[in-house]
Amino acid sequence: MYRDKFQNIREGYTYDDVLLIPSRTSVEPREVDISSRFSRHINLKVPIVSSPMDTVTESGMAIAMARQGGIGILHRNLSVNQQVAFVRTVKKEESIIIRNVHTVAPETPLPEVRTIMKTKNIGGLPVVSGEKLVGIVTKRDLEFAGKDKKTVEDIMVRNVIYSHDNVDMNEALDILFKNRIEKLPLVDKTGRVVGLITAKDIITRQKFPHASRDAKGQLLVGAAVGPFDIERAVMLEKEGVDVIVVDTAHAHNDNVLNSLKKMRKEVSVDIVAGNIATPEAAEDLISIGVDGLRVGIGPGSICTTRIIAGIGVPQLTAISDVAEAAAEHDVPVIADGGIRYSGDIVKAIASGANCVMLGSLFAGTDESPGAEILLSGRKYKTYRGMGSIGAIQTGISDRYGKIGANKFVAEGVEGAVPYRGRVEEVLFQLTGGIKSGMGYVGARNIEELRTKPRFVKISTNGLKESHPHDIRITSEPPNYQLYQI
Ligand code: XMP
Repeated sequence: MYRDKFQNIREGYTYDDVLLIPSRTSVEPREVDISSRFSRHINLKVPIVSSPMDTVTESGMAIAMARQGGIGILHRNLSVNQQVAFVRTVKKEESIIIRNVHTVAPETPLPEVRTIMKTKNIGGLPVVSGEKLVGIVTKRDLEFAGKDKKTVEDIMVRNVIYSHDNVDMNEALDILFKNRIEKLPLVDKTGRVVGLITAKDIITRQKFPHASRDAKGQLLVGAAVGPFDIERAVMLEKEGVDVIVVDTAHAHNDNVLNSLKKMRKEVSVDIVAGNIATPEAAEDLISIGVDGLRVGIGPGSICTTRIIAGIGVPQLTAISDVAEAAAEHDVPVIADGGIRYSGDIVKAIASGANCVMLGSLFAGTDESPGAEILLSGRKYKTYRGMGSIGAIQTGISDRYGKIGANKFVAEGVEGAVPYRGRVEEVLFQLTGGIKSGMGYVGARNIEELRTKPRFVKISTNGLKESHPHDIRITSEPPNYQLYQI
């Protein structure tokens, strides 16, 4: 009985154990399509997601990720109200049509208009009489208003250019440019103001043609919740979150599964659940109706789960096991943790993942909330596991072992990662690596990368050979520098 446990023992593989075998190709890296899926209904142009960790994803990271075609998952180590406010910030960032339009009346005194513009950070206000649009007043009108001007009526532009509610973006842009105006009020049949479009928002939007957006044109955002926090999930959905990520160290747990069943009934946006590392866990979660599976028990750079609890499955084996089970149900698989190089992303997808989730590689960017620190003259940013003592103590996280009221069994460490510049730059290098890998194996799209290539197992010598060797490096290309600690 005991000896048997080691008889048919499987070998598990992780990133450094294997390489992908190149094959004859007619695919050029610049031609490949790297769009993929995060969950049943969330499609991404870039198969990369930022992790819900308090040193990785708040609204700034989520905005940057969505603009580049990925998605950011807001962490949950904060109050519901704070997390909901982050969702609001992301959703408002590029909303093309402002629905909650602030207006003034012709008789509003100018000092009051100045205060509204300043406190709400607005450059122009439609003027309404009763409910009807009768003019517009902008910051400029205020700047050039003489001392004798007392109310809006004295300075507003009366023949306002406006449009109807169903105007499309190009039409709106045309009107804005032709008339050299910055704001376009939208009115309904009765002349009531029902929206406002600003040129600034449209121009910003055009800068990010591959951004991940919802049907209304707003940036996509996800948010993590604890497995038993149904109320939080409902509140996040009300605020417009696009996907809920149920965040637990071990999702294959009866209490978690029961709670997920209830959550499924309360929430209609996609639910991604994890973390898991086995096909049985995948089957059980899929049977409840989850829309995505987050795979990885212990591979993360800050994780100590495998050391503390002795548990885990080497990441590529975990991904391929889960992907095999998920394939029959068409549920996307997210490879979470342990990714240090763009080559690791290629290997994760070639093992069956639809996309990857990164913590460490994003923690050092401008957009992460971690603090900047200087160590031996070099810039770093703080990064910590959500199961580290620091994260457990400062927040509400129950992801990892809170055993007893005030004592913790931490499953993560706290530290710092090198400063890595803007998310956009990091993503450029990572996606460049993915495209290069796809060229070598002849994969035109992510589906082909998931299914076509074959692996070869490598030895420790093979691994040594893989990295630069026998040279004193004098010039590192930016993408190699990116990965140095
Ligand atoms: P990387 O390698 O990208 O991993 O830094 C990020 C992922 O690690 C997981 N995570 C943890 N795992 N203890 C753990 O065992 C922790 O304290 C911890 N914090 C985060 C998580 O899945 C994340 O996306």
